[in-house]
Amino acid sequence: MRQSLIALWVWSWACAGVGASDHTFPLVKRDVPAVVGMDLYPHQTISRLLKARDTTTIQTTIGNTLEWFANVSTGTPPQPLAILVDIEHNEFTVVLGTPLEGDNCQEDSYCRLYGAYNLSQSSSANSTIDESKRKWSYTFDVTTDIVTMGETQVKDVKLNTEFIVGNANIMGLSPNNESFPYQLVDRGLIRSPSFSVWGNASSDGGAGLLFGGVNKAKYHGPLQAFPFNKTSEVVTLPLSGFQIQSDSKEPTTYTFPSSKPFILSTRYITTTLPDSVIQQIYKDYNITMEKNGPVVDCTRLTENHTISLSSGNATFSVPWSELIGYRDPTRNLCRFYIESSDEDAPYAGTIGIPFSHRMYIALNYNSGFVGVAPLNENPGPDEILEIGDGPDIPDAEGDFPTSILPYPLLPTVAASTSTGLAAMPTYMPGGMLAVAGAALMAAL
Ligand SMILES: *[C@@H]1O[C@H](CO)[C@@H](O)[C@H](O)[C@H]1NC(C)=O
Ligand SMILES: *[C@@H]1O[C@H](CO)[C@@H](O)[C@H](O)[C@H]1NC(C)=O
Ligand SMILES: *[C@@H]1O[C@H](CO)[C@@H](O)[C@H](O)[C@H]1NC(C)=O
Ligand SMILES: *[C@@H]1O[C@H](CO)[C@@H](O)[C@H](O)[C@H]1NC(C)=O
Ligand SMILES: *[C@@H]1O[C@H](CO)[C@@H](O)[C@H](O)[C@H]1NC(C)=O
Ligand SMILES: *[C@@H]1O[C@H](CO)[C@@H](O)[C@H](O)[C@H]1NC(C)=O
Ligand SMILES: *[C@@H]1O[C@H](CO)[C@@H](O)[C@H](O)[C@H]1NC(C)=O
Ligand SMILES: *[C@@H]1O[C@H](CO)[C@@H](O)[C@H](O)[C@H]1NC(C)=O
Ligand SMILES: *[C@@H]1O[C@H](CO)[C@@H](O)[C@H](O)[C@H]1NC(C)=O
Repeated sequence: MRQSLIALWVWSWACAGVGASDHTFPLVKRDVPAVVGMDLYPHQTISRLLKARDTTTIQTTIGNTLEWFANVSTGTPPQPLAILVDIEHNEFTVVLGTPLEGDNCQEDSYCRLYGAYNLSQSSSANSTIDESKRKWSYTFDVTTDIVTMGETQVKDVKLNTEFIVGNANIMGLSPNNESFPYQLVDRGLIRSPSFSVWGNASSDGGAGLLFGGVNKAKYHGPLQAFPFNKTSEVVTLPLSGFQIQSDSKEPTTYTFPSSKPFILSTRYITTTLPDSVIQQIYKDYNITMEKNGPVVDCTRLTENHTISLSSGNATFSVPWSELIGYRDPTRNLCRFYIESSDEDAPYAGTIGIPFSHRMYIALNYNSGFVGVAPLNENPGPDEILEIGDGPDIPDAEGDFPTSILPYPLLPTVAASTSTGLAAMPTYMPGGMLAVAGAALMAAL
């Protein structure tokens, strides 16, 4: 059974007449946290080779990639969309059907599988796009409309609309200061550009996204937290270790040549590591580098190896079989999903989906901190901690700065350490905006 999440209470604080001097807000557990949450679910990825008239592409998916998807809807009346959750993407991107092919989405296109947005059918759309004049161009016009997530309606969300057939709807959650978490702060739905995302997209249920908070029930804490450079608009994570264990032998430990951090990806299946480490792994495990990438004999899928990476003292382990995919149709060779990174890049490599989906990931973009912890596969009842507008992440160990400039640059607010409703009026003279079960309209 899918455990269903939150999407519950919201209060308005943005317009409250606040004005104390120290903005730093201690970690608090509220009875009514300002969070918005939703379940995520897996969707078999269609390869990026997808082309408008190519009816075979769905069958030839590359590997077994499973990405995180959320159900949302856009417009009035609501048009349902499946939307990919991506911390590397900046915009809230929705695909506008396939005008190149006429009025209907083609059988093999993303818009058929995931839904498309038709702004001329939405009474709440505000757009300058003239669909009839845009037939042949890629468009990046700004349109705004209502986005509904569960019971929560968010007004005037900036939508990046695309006519590109091969693209998915993407909820961009990057540290770019116009990404969706920032828009939720602008609407008063959460207090800081912050969220948690977690779970195993390959299992039925258990993956989720929580804006504005941390759900302590979902991981084995504390979170291990590290700063990243948010100016570069990617989330990175330093790795403290990399190991491969075979059967019951002592694990082999690989050492990284530099302390450069790794890009944390929720979108790509491939993990990339520095070339010196890759050469050693390929030698130790007889992985063959071919023109198109590394391969192993598919019969080796059943070998008993566990590949682990660590960040702080949190370790994330993936069985060998999950790092082997796409079978060459003409030979018995399978693709291996760990490759060399680009040596000149400012990052040591990329942490791909097999690892990132085993992490609980909490992000506070105000301070530019990421916290990670191993998932709790048997979570108890939800335990939501709000991520306030301070530098920290609740229930995390990290070298947080003592103060930061929170987004948006509003007057600072009084600190509160109390739990529950009694503490609210001090912090939030505006009081409750709405209660559970009601359809919420963002205040702005
Ligand atoms: C998403 O929507 C699909 C189709 O309506 C439905 O089958 C699925 O259960 C939904 N998943 C979640 C997590 O809401
Ligand atoms: C969008 O809706 C309009 C009005 O119902 C319709 O004429 C048009 O074909 C639709 N566009 C797409 C791409 O489905
Ligand atoms: C639509 O957008 C324009 C420009 O962004 C703005 O001036 C106008 O007020 C908006 N209209 C509505 C109904 O929101
Ligand atoms: C967003 O970032 C850009 C530069 O990256 C900056 O010019 C702009 O003022 C920022 N906007 C807000 C609302 O902070
Ligand atoms: C994810 O789900 C798959 C399928 O249910 C399971 O085989 C795998 O062990 C799960 N991984 C984690 C980390 O729970
Ligand atoms: C952060 O990233 C920006 C943009 O990529 C870069 O210019 C800057 O040097 C980086 N800062 C640090 C401390 O690495
Ligand atoms: C696989 O390796 C683990 C240790 O990594 C060991 O505990 C287990 O017994 C091994 N399984 C088989 C079938 O050899
Ligand atoms: C390594 O793998 C290749 C096929 O990828 C195979 O031909 C070769 O015999 C293997 N070598 C060893 C030492 O197992
Ligand atoms: C990580 O280290 C901290 C102390 O620095 C400890 O409290 C915590 O339990 C450790 N976590 C794990 C998973 O070992």
